[in-house]
Amino acid sequence: MTDVAQLDAADPLAALRERFLLPEDIVYLDGNSLGALPRAVPDAVDRVLRQQWGGDLIASWNRHDWIGLPTRVGERIAALIGAAPGQVLCVDSISVNLFKLLAAALDLRPRRDTILTLRGDFPTDAYIAGGLADWLGPQRCRVHAVEAPALNEHLDERVAVLLLTQVNYRSGERFDMAALTAAAHDAGALVVWDLAHSAGVMPIDLDACAVDFAVGCGYKFLNGGPGAPAFLYVNTRHQGGVRQPLSGWLGHATPFDFAPQYRPAPGVRRFQAGTPPIVSMAALEAALGVFNDVDLNAVRRKSLALGDLFLERLAARPALRELNCITPREHARRGSQLSLRHEQAWGISQALIDAGVIVDFRAPDILRLGFAPLYNCFADVEAALAALERVMVNETYRDPAYDQRPAVT
Ligand SMILES: Cc1ncc(COP(=O)(O)O)c(C=O)c1O
Repeated sequence: MTDVAQLDAADPLAALRERFLLPEDIVYLDGNSLGALPRAVPDAVDRVLRQQWGGDLIASWNRHDWIGLPTRVGERIAALIGAAPGQVLCVDSISVNLFKLLAAALDLRPRRDTILTLRGDFPTDAYIAGGLADWLGPQRCRVHAVEAPALNEHLDERVAVLLLTQVNYRSGERFDMAALTAAAHDAGALVVWDLAHSAGVMPIDLDACAVDFAVGCGYKFLNGGPGAPAFLYVNTRHQGGVRQPLSGWLGHATPFDFAPQYRPAPGVRRFQAGTPPIVSMAALEAALGVFNDVDLNAVRRKSLALGDLFLERLAARPALRELNCITPREHARRGSQLSLRHEQAWGISQALIDAGVIVDFRAPDILRLGFAPLYNCFADVEAALAALERVMVNETYRDPAYDQRPAVT
């Protein structure tokens, strides 16, 4: 038995790969962008389409509790992110949820005007914060983006809300949720955490960290499928008086009264605006079944072990010396991806994909390898490194076929 085969044989999570439908002949290291398809999803979606929509038609809103999906799926996600019931709703996209939550947070700090955030976070977070500030005008709101080491010194009495991502999409760096939340609170500010690259791949303790608000997406490590709806978290202590700007009918206390006046639903449900995407949400609900008996501490241990093995063997291959890992090596500061910098990263990513190792690229020069411990194995790490070595030695990344970049990179 090879050493990676021994590691796989000893892996307590190895059997979970069977819960996914993955092509045999590829190594999939892109679960940080689009999670793999859980085996239970196609039948679940087929049931929603044929039996529920096709057979029961509009009665399905009650008969199959379509109307309860945002709350029901929200509660399943809550169990994965350390949130007691009643605080998580599956709804909209991260971008839309950020708009609602940042506006809500500013409203709770009427004498403060600043959204403090980090430079280099995922662009939509900065775009939405900037869009909200433009909308409210400079008298009411400004966005201040700083480098991570300077964060604490900028947490002053103007900061209404600190907007942070737990794991940076480009570098894979993980930030200390407990410490940064406490620092924001000490300064009188609220926090919004973006969990896009952490939900489903490590234990998260929103309640224990006293987080105010959070968002995350359904299509990465939760495996909900392309365009899966996102989720948001509103800590119970804010639910009494909090307002949000997208006051749509399904966030109304009694939407089917069709009352002329908006009256927000009690609790987190007021953060719903319009009709939920039932088919996508049903896919996500079925996908979450994968986690039923899974211990996220074990997932985290395997995620780090996969990354450690990759780093150790990367360093042992002279042909890969030009690939500079920008992800911190310390476990506490690492998410579940490794990011390698190389000026030919685009060509390398394409040559790897053509060799059956699915990775991705982030402009201008980052090759990302995401480890999804529910379906990646130690043999995947070895296969990815062997393919990477061939690409670098043979310089297949220079193929002119890679000169054109498609719409999605
Ligand atoms: C950290 C982070 N935030 C937000 C998003 C985008 O979220 P959405 O498309 O749901 O608005 C992404 C997408 O990859 C992301 O990585």
